[in-house]
Amino acid sequence: MEAYILEYLNFAIRWLHMIAGIAWIGASLYFVWLDSSLLPPKDKPSQDIGIGGEVWALHGGGFYRAQKFQVAPPELPTPLHWFKWEAYTTWLSGFSLLVLLYYVQADVYLIDKAVMDLTPAAAIGTGLFCLASTWIIYDLMCRSPLGRNEPLLAAIMFVLLAALAYGLTHLYSGRGAFIHFGAVIGTIMVANVFFVIIPGQKEMVKAKVAGRPVDPKYGLMGKQRSVHNTYFTLPVLFVMISNHFAGFTNHRHAWAILMAISLAGALIRLYSVLSHRGQKKPALLVGGYGILIGLFVALFPKPPEAGAATQKVSFAQVRGVIDAKCAGCHAAKPSFAGFAAPPKNVMLETVEQIRAQAPAIYQQTVVAKAMPIGNLTNITDAERALIAAWFTQGAKVE
Ligand code: HEC
Repeated sequence: MEAYILEYLNFAIRWLHMIAGIAWIGASLYFVWLDSSLLPPKDKPSQDIGIGGEVWALHGGGFYRAQKFQVAPPELPTPLHWFKWEAYTTWLSGFSLLVLLYYVQADVYLIDKAVMDLTPAAAIGTGLFCLASTWIIYDLMCRSPLGRNEPLLAAIMFVLLAALAYGLTHLYSGRGAFIHFGAVIGTIMVANVFFVIIPGQKEMVKAKVAGRPVDPKYGLMGKQRSVHNTYFTLPVLFVMISNHFAGFTNHRHAWAILMAISLAGALIRLYSVLSHRGQKKPALLVGGYGILIGLFVALFPKPPEAGAATQKVSFAQVRGVIDAKCAGCHAAKPSFAGFAAPPKNVMLETVEQIRAQAPAIYQQTVVAKAMPIGNLTNITDAERALIAAWFTQGAKVE
């Protein structure tokens, strides 16, 4: 009953999170493109009312003309769309998912006793502390004189985030660490909207209504944060799908992989932002893809060491391990408390199912050590070695 409710909430909130995230990131990508594509208006009326740049576009069978005022229009138009609920809904649904999966079921998803034997309270407390403290540090840095030196700020942020990634991967399960890294960046992005960009816009509107000149400082501050958000976008999107890739999240050097992919994402994004403005910097693209190709080579699986699989393993032995350590969850009707359905639809009850899943069993149990999840069924190294030997001897099922 409880498992069913958790599963259903997981579905409903995840769906909402994706939709809100697409709306938010989509609008963000569009506005960055728009800003970089602005050209000075050619007609006098537009120049006279203070238009700084405009874009003509064709979409869905219509001509569109988007114009950006240098500071503000002469009259405040109504209605005025703010673009904020996309960001807030993304954060609220994302945080709810974090609580539902990683906090309510901390011993399944967040804690890995082989990494650190944390109590759920300690694990959750640390997670929340990371979310709040990273935002505060980042915000203070942006407001300090450092905030005027973007390259230095970016370098310091990269080092701090690398330290965070290192710390998290030595504290939590692989996926728990990655999701917290993503949640930290996502929180910074939404807090930028909530605490800086929107209040700045409110100030601009207030000044306009009061007939005061609009202080361009608010526009500039908002712009800085929204540029930061742009470079966070691709890394955060990678992290949100990273739990599908146990080869990354459970690697010995998972923190370095996380930083490498984040850097690749930021470089590729930087390339596209600059290229919208007509500045082609192929070195950025080469750097970004170079990192991804380098990772592919560095992580290439090594052939099993000769001699590692000398013990002759029978299928009956392997079946015994899978029955005892996997099938509690991976069954049509899981017997393990808290599971309403076989996770990821992977069932390991029949010989046929085990045969079909052999590479995945090997990958998850031996290579990534991601299964049994949270090692809730206490698999031993000897049992993992047994599965390794069985697989390298051809994964025979008779
Ligand atoms: C306590 C429950 C539990 C146990 C025990 C367990 N698993 Fe899993 N397994 C899960 C969950 C939960 C997922 C889905 C993880 C996710 O959402 O990415 C999963 C996913 C998988 C997947 C799919 C991975 C993917 O990303 O496609 C495989 C394969 C797998 N498990 C194999 C095993 C094997 C082999 C064992 C035994 C050595 C095992 N599991 C034991 C809970 C369990």
